[in-house]
Amino acid sequence: MKQEIMTIISQQQLAPRIFQMTLTGDLVNEMEKPGQFIHIKVPRVDMLLRRPISINQIDKEAKTCTIIYRTEGDGTKVFAELTTGDTLDVMGPLGNGFDVECLTAGQKAYVIGGGIGIPPMYELSKQLKQRGIEVVHFLGYASKEVAYFQDEFIALGDTRFATDDGSFGVEGNVGNLLLDAVQKEQPDAVYACGANGMLKMIAQVFSDNPNVFLSLEQRMACGMGACYACVCHVPDDETGTKSVKVCDEGPIFRASEVVL
Ligand code: FAD
Ligand code: FES
Repeated sequence: MKQEIMTIISQQQLAPRIFQMTLTGDLVNEMEKPGQFIHIKVPRVDMLLRRPISINQIDKEAKTCTIIYRTEGDGTKVFAELTTGDTLDVMGPLGNGFDVECLTAGQKAYVIGGGIGIPPMYELSKQLKQRGIEVVHFLGYASKEVAYFQDEFIALGDTRFATDDGSFGVEGNVGNLLLDAVQKEQPDAVYACGANGMLKMIAQVFSDNPNVFLSLEQRMACGMGACYACVCHVPDDETGTKSVKVCDEGPIFRASEVVL
């Protein structure tokens, strides 16, 4: 993990409230695993806490990394106002990242993303594909209007879409797509990032599969394991005192390791 002032080389809006930003700096040399995140200082003196954002793409040759974020509160709104040439104070890469080594060439992975949980699944899918693993994407959005990155995923493999309002793909959440798929085949591993309800459903649908990797989201402060702001409970803990820290022990856990 390092800290660096990175330079924005591009920023564009992909959909309402959804932005893609590409940054350059030496920090990219440290980025290896999909599912890791960077912790970005908001360039405003009254905002002390950094904002955690997943790495969407790593390009070591170009020395760039890309993030995709949705404006929520003041911090992400400040990010959206930045332009090419502006700089950001970035710490990273943080977190454990997805385990891609549990699979071998020829095996099949289900890659599942919901809403603003979709960005890290792109670098994951790219790396799985490079390892000869067959990827099937299941992507869920609120509506067609806020959908993004569809073509990029299609270029990597079989991609199925769901929207809450049915304006694009199957109507409903990705659960509908998954229930249909698992009647025909079982994947060797499942990777997911999205809302807690979606992760719970995935843990249930694939309860017999030991390779179900879920990316959790918790509010964070330090982002590096020191403050315990981001804890999540573990199963079979009768005292309720055991927990894991999402920032440094996660954000990716096997479904069997955490209480969702
Ligand atoms: P505010 O609501 O004003 O934020 C107030 C405080 O709460 C800040 O400290 C903020 O960091 C924290 N906070 C608010 N919402 C969240 C949240 N959902 N998760 C964690 N902290 C939160 N969002 C994206 O759009 N794209 C991503 O790729 C992405 N990756 C993430 C990866 C991880 C590991 C985590 C934990 C969160 C990720 N998020 C991502 C969520 C993102 O961090 C929040 O949307 C963002 O911090 C909101 O900041 P804000 O100032 O706009 O909102
Ligand atoms: Fe401080 Fe996780 S955010 S320990």
